[in-house]
Amino acid sequence: MVSSRKETAPADNLLEGSRFIRACLRRPVDRTPVWFLRQAGRYMQEYRDVRKHHTLVEICRQPELAAEVTITAAEKLGVDAAIIFADLLLPLEPMGLPFEFEAGEGPVVHHPVRTAEDVAALHTDRADQLDYVARAIEKVAAHFGGRLGIIGFCGAPYTLASYMIEGGGSRNYIYTKQLMYGDTIAWSRLLDKIVVVLTEYCRLQVDAGADVIQIFDSWAGSLSFSDYRDYALEAATRLVRAVQSMGVPVIYFGVETTGLLPIMSSTGAEVIGLDWRQALDDGWRAVGHTRAVQGNLDPITLFAPLEIIERRVKEILRAAKGRPGHIFNLGHGIVPGTPVENVQAVVKMVHEYRE
Ligand code: CP3
Repeated sequence: MVSSRKETAPADNLLEGSRFIRACLRRPVDRTPVWFLRQAGRYMQEYRDVRKHHTLVEICRQPELAAEVTITAAEKLGVDAAIIFADLLLPLEPMGLPFEFEAGEGPVVHHPVRTAEDVAALHTDRADQLDYVARAIEKVAAHFGGRLGIIGFCGAPYTLASYMIEGGGSRNYIYTKQLMYGDTIAWSRLLDKIVVVLTEYCRLQVDAGADVIQIFDSWAGSLSFSDYRDYALEAATRLVRAVQSMGVPVIYFGVETTGLLPIMSSTGAEVIGLDWRQALDDGWRAVGHTRAVQGNLDPITLFAPLEIIERRVKEILRAAKGRPGHIFNLGHGIVPGTPVENVQAVVKMVHEYRE
C-alpha cells in the first residue's frame, strides 16, 4: 500500500513540501537542498563510537541503532535529507547469498554466482526478511516528521549482480562480463530475480515512509555504452518504473558515467546523480534539462583549505544557473578521515549562496 501522503501532490508554494523533494520534482526552492553520499560513516566520531560495539550489519539489523546513526548524522550536518543507514548488499542474504564485511577488504560473498544453476538457486520470495530496514525508516520518519526528506535506497540490478558474481568489489568485472556475454539467458534471469527482490524491498521502504528512493548503479561505469544498453538498461528501467509506481521519485546514480548519462536518463528517473569528474553544467546538458541532477563535488576536495572548498562549491552552484532541480551533493561518498567541520561548512555555503 502506498500511503495517502504521497498521493497528494504538493501545491506549488515555496513553503510547501520539503526543499529536497521539491528539487527532485524540479519545483522552485528557497535554497538549494544539500545532503552527502555516505553522510553517516567512519569519518564521524559518533558513528565510530557505535561501531566500537557493533558490526556494520548489526547496526543495519537493529532499527534503533540504524535510526540513531541516520538521525545523528543528518542533524549534526544540518542537511536537507536523511539517507537510511543500510547497505547495498543486504538483499543478498534473503536471496541465499550470505556475505561478510572483512576489515579493510569490503564485502565478501562466500559462494558467488557463476553458473545458470547458481542463478536458478536464488530465492526471490523472502524480501520481507529486510523488514528491519523499514522499521528503521519508520523511526527516522517519525523523528523528522516531514522536516527532512527521507531517502531509502537499493543497488541497481547491474551493480548488485556484479557483487553477486564477483563475490566482492572488482577491478575488471571479468566474471560478471563472462556470464553477461556467455550466457545471456542466465544473465537475464539473474537480473529478473534481482528486480523482483528489489521491487519488494523498495516497497517496504516506501510504505515505511521513504520519500524518495536512490538507486545506486555505482559500477555502471565499468560498462561500455553498448554493453550498458544491451545488458543493463532494461532491468534498471524496470526497477525505476516499479518504484515510481509506488508514488515516489527516483534518484539514479553511478560513478564514471560521463558517456552513459543520456542513456541513464532514458530510464525515466526524476533525478540523475552526477559523479565529480565532469562539470555540473556539462553533466546536466547530457542528462537533459527535463531531469533534476544531484552532485557533484569531488569528495576529496573536503580535505582542502576552506577557500578552495568554497571556490569549488560556488562553481557548482553557478553552473546550476538557478535552474530548478539541483540537489547539491558529492560526486561519490565521503571517505574516512574527512574533517566533519568541512562537511558542515559546505552545508552553510550551499544554504547561504545567493546568485
Ligand atoms: O550515510 C550513508 O550513506 C550510509 C548508508 C550506506 C552504507 N552503504 C553504509 C556503509 C549506503 C548508502 C551504502 C551504499 C553502498 N554500499 C554502496 C553504494 C554507494 C557507493 O559507494 O557507490 C556500495 C557500493 C556499498 C557496498 C559497500 N559497503 C562497500 C564496498 C563497503 C566497504 C567500503 C568501505 O568504505 O569500507 C561497504 C561498507 C559500508 N557501508 C560502510 C558504511 C558506513 C563503511 C564500513 C564500516 O562501517 O565498517
